[in-house]
Amino acid sequence: MTETNFILENYNSELINNGEFTWKTPSNIALVKYWGKRDPQLPENASISFTLDACFTLTTLEYKSKERNSKLVSESHPSDFSFEVYFEGEKKDSFKPKIKTFFERVEKYVPFLKEFDLVIKSRNSFPHSSGIASSASGMSALALCVMSIEKQLNPEMTEEYFNRKASFLARLGSGSACRSVEGELIVWGNHKEINGSSDLFGVKFPFQVHKNFKNYHDTILLVDEGEKQVSSTVGHKLMYGHPFAKQRFKQANDNISKISEVLQNGDLKEFIAIVESEALSLHAMMMTSNPYFILMKPNTLKIINKIWAFRAETNSNICFTLDAGANVHILFPEAEKEQVNNFITRELIQYCQENHYICDRVGTGAQLMKKL
Ligand code: DP6
Repeated sequence: MTETNFILENYNSELINNGEFTWKTPSNIALVKYWGKRDPQLPENASISFTLDACFTLTTLEYKSKERNSKLVSESHPSDFSFEVYFEGEKKDSFKPKIKTFFERVEKYVPFLKEFDLVIKSRNSFPHSSGIASSASGMSALALCVMSIEKQLNPEMTEEYFNRKASFLARLGSGSACRSVEGELIVWGNHKEINGSSDLFGVKFPFQVHKNFKNYHDTILLVDEGEKQVSSTVGHKLMYGHPFAKQRFKQANDNISKISEVLQNGDLKEFIAIVESEALSLHAMMMTSNPYFILMKPNTLKIINKIWAFRAETNSNICFTLDAGANVHILFPEAEKEQVNNFITRELIQYCQENHYICDRVGTGAQLMKKL
């Protein structure tokens, strides 16, 4: 599929007047990381993530046809997007520039957007300042709401096309958001061993997943709840001209091949080796870029060392991964949940800011909540 497959043509927007859609869309955690992109929001390497469940964004998009609503206003500013944004019940003009950029990027594919007055109402299941990126769940929720409008204009579209285009649009908002439409394992980025994979959208991992990875847990330790020190947009740019960029992109693609095998054969020790190496490689890229950053905090390292010691003592299959920040995602199989939960509460919670942590697990993807 190419970009042109996603351009909506020959639609009649007079078919619809007003209404609203609400989508509940999960966050995701990458096992092999996306770090480095080129225009327009195309990844330099393939990545794979677990879709999460408890960390989600709930977004309602209300739409009202401008023609019937305020013909004069829309005719005097025909090229303007008309939208308001509310976050957790409060009007949030500070969120508008990012959403406007998203609308501008997707306009070619969903040209009906300018024909409506839009109101976006959003909230997250996790605290906004928790250091958990909300761009993946937030942008995919918005993309899905937009697709629900498109579905009314084009009711014949298949579920597969709906999800693909939602992922395609979400990607233009935030790269990792394209992995937050479906579950449980999503690959984004063209990779020769993953059938159907594309730089344009995320696809479900196409092979049978071993039972060891069913219901996998992700407990997120909130080590540093502040705003991120490096925004991901700035972070990705650090990969331009980075001395290790080429090797890093190759390493990630090689890790996709390896993890693809592991997800099928259930080799938990090899899974741990790939996932932890990916997390540390991501941070190594930041430490060796220009300018350089250390995003881990002392407590991040304390947690990692505790995990390694626990694994050595008990032969547990617990492991960690990191985003572009100090928080630690602890991944473990369903079969070990009691043992690992005890360990986390006994030994790791003390390193979290105000003892905050979130128990999450692998989920099945976004859900449409309401349709009027
Ligand atoms: C470290 O998707 O947040 O979480 O495309 O600029 O919005 P933009 O970046 P974003 O980057 C996520 C980077 C990461 C790794 C990953 O999720 O693969």
